[in-house]
Amino acid sequence: MTIKEKLAVHAAEVEEYLGICLKDRNIPETLLESMEYSLMAGGKRLRPVLVLVWAKMLGLESKEVMPFAASLELIHSYSLVHDDLPAMDDDDLRRGKPSNHKKFGEATAILAGDGLLTEAFGLMTRAAVPAENVLRAISIMAEAAGAAGMVGGQEVDMEYTGRDGVSLEELRAMHAMKTGALIYSSCKCGAVLASKGSDAEKHVSCAEEYGRLIGVAFQIVDDVLDVIGDEAALGKPVGSDEEQGKTTYPSLIGLEESKKLASGYVEDAVKLLEPYSGDEADFLRELARYIVDRVY
Ligand code: IPE
Ligand code: IPE
Ligand code: MG
Ligand code: MG
Ligand code: MG
Repeated sequence: MTIKEKLAVHAAEVEEYLGICLKDRNIPETLLESMEYSLMAGGKRLRPVLVLVWAKMLGLESKEVMPFAASLELIHSYSLVHDDLPAMDDDDLRRGKPSNHKKFGEATAILAGDGLLTEAFGLMTRAAVPAENVLRAISIMAEAAGAAGMVGGQEVDMEYTGRDGVSLEELRAMHAMKTGALIYSSCKCGAVLASKGSDAEKHVSCAEEYGRLIGVAFQIVDDVLDVIGDEAALGKPVGSDEEQGKTTYPSLIGLEESKKLASGYVEDAVKLLEPYSGDEADFLRELARYIVDRVY
């Protein structure tokens, strides 16, 4: 199986749970429709898959961590709904469909994002592992998704938009927050949920470091694809960053250097996995490299 096929198998497992996790709740019909419109619109499901695979590699079964893994996709989807709003990136296409606010209007899009974010924390509490591991993982997610993590990164992104003189170091720090935070915390929480025994902290640190490296590489490639990608394959507009006056890796160091930098981070991430063997470890190595080779 290719890495794309392996990722699709894991993603399908996540998808199945996502399809039921908001059902039978007292959510107003239009709000539920709007939340599910974005949540069930496809996407690579990278973040939940990272939770699942790290947890599996360290001894857990999918069903023990699935609600927690799924919560990452709720948070990610909310971030995309808000990211596309006219006040932010003002993008009309997401996951191959009109953006949430185009379909439901801005007010419902904002509320759908709020709803997805809040529901996510409810789902996290349902991980079937020792409560101390669940609590620690929730606390990591709150930090990573919040004002000192993804939300903070989005604020810095807005502040850098249209501004000259942003340095490469500033850009890297912004990427680490807006995109790296959810990706590293996915890996880290997989390891935290699985943690037991004297080696637990070693695994947690390794998961975090691997996630930080692939997280930054992931956003560099996202910036590259915004220049050279294909709109139909990406399912979102190409050229949006330049149009908005975003500072990106390609705008600072060019396409080739950007790709080289991303490959370097990914190879460093692969090296961290040397102590691990088996299907999950192989998957994580291939997934890291796929992040640079992907076309969507
Ligand atoms: C897009 O994320 C937004 C970024 C953080 C770069 P993905 O590329 O993972 O989007 P989906 O989930 O596959 O749609
Ligand atoms: C978004 O970065 C990061 C988020 C936290 C949503 P981008 O603005 O580059 O993501 P896309 O390209 O719209 O998916
Ligand atoms: Mg953005
Ligand atoms: Mg955007
Ligand atoms: Mg982008």
